[in-house]
Amino acid sequence: MRILGIESSCDETGIAIYDEQSGIIAHKLYSQVKVHQEYGGVVPELASRDHVRKIIPLIRDTLKEAHCRTEDISAVAYTQGPGLIGALLVGATVAKSIAFAWNKPALGIHHLEGHLLAPMLEENKPDFPFLALLVSGGHTMLVSVFGLGNYQIIGESIDDAAGEAFDKTAKIMGLDYPGGPLLAKLAEQGDGSEMRFPRPMTDRPGLDFSFSGLKTFAANRVAATDGSLQANANIAQAFQEAVVDTLAIKCKRALKQTGHKRLVVAGGVSANLSLREKLAKLMQDLGGEVFYPRHEYCTDNGAMIAYAGFCHFKQSKDDGHTIKVFPRWPLASSSGE
Ligand code: KG4
Ligand code: ZN
Repeated sequence: MRILGIESSCDETGIAIYDEQSGIIAHKLYSQVKVHQEYGGVVPELASRDHVRKIIPLIRDTLKEAHCRTEDISAVAYTQGPGLIGALLVGATVAKSIAFAWNKPALGIHHLEGHLLAPMLEENKPDFPFLALLVSGGHTMLVSVFGLGNYQIIGESIDDAAGEAFDKTAKIMGLDYPGGPLLAKLAEQGDGSEMRFPRPMTDRPGLDFSFSGLKTFAANRVAATDGSLQANANIAQAFQEAVVDTLAIKCKRALKQTGHKRLVVAGGVSANLSLREKLAKLMQDLGGEVFYPRHEYCTDNGAMIAYAGFCHFKQSKDDGHTIKVFPRWPLASSSGE
């Protein structure tokens, strides 16, 4: 059984093929970063148009790389939400059209479920149940995962997502979009031990997050320094430490509350090395285990959608020929309608 996966919820066109026996047998990603860079953020209309340009050639290349004929594909999985409506519609329309032409089922996948399940593509994969920390550009969530489709959100950001806070702080420092990885790189050369950034919402019970204050705190520090590379690196280091520390404190609390022994970390920010180090240490201290997707499956990609599609296809999910996308779709509900 082989599933074609299509991801187009934001500024990456990701296509992959998951094979029941061999796992991911082809995986291609086109990033629109250059298209949006001069605007300092994603321009939705440009994103949709670029997906239109790239999606079909990328699907062709992926099928070719996998030496896959159309009849070898059992189903087409695509990101149905959440995300940018135009970008989602491109992926959904192409997926449904292909599925109709090939006479195969199409499966709409929740983008965050894709991220949650991505560590299952690794050799050392977590068993259910587990606690998931989902940290991306659009979301920061703690999810108690009991099984496929059985998700309970136990904490989330009340304002900026962790990745968004990284990107906005990077922008304040004049770094290119998306600034998260660049800020993390800059932080390696910094020493922010003189600065004490707050650890938002850790002084009260609960598992929710708030990151917008850290960005403002960083902006004030940047305004108060000489703007040198070293000054920015020091602020970047202290900012990153504050985000990572806050995430770790809430993970520890959530693990205690739920009793989970396994922690899955997914979404773009899970690529952050400082976060990985911190959570590895936490899980070692607690006698538990932490799981990540490999680097290329941390940020948006087609592999996670192909895999989630495979899991649902086994449970015979097929959403027919109607084309519908859900730009806002809560993870815990089975449909975005
Ligand atoms: O999961 P993702 O590709 O897209 C969304 O679904 O949002 O996550 C992208 C986010 C961006 O905010 C990006 O800056 C952040 O992940 N990111 C990082 C790192 N790599 C990507 N943030 C901090 N450190 C990194 N190494
Ligand atoms: Zn994502």
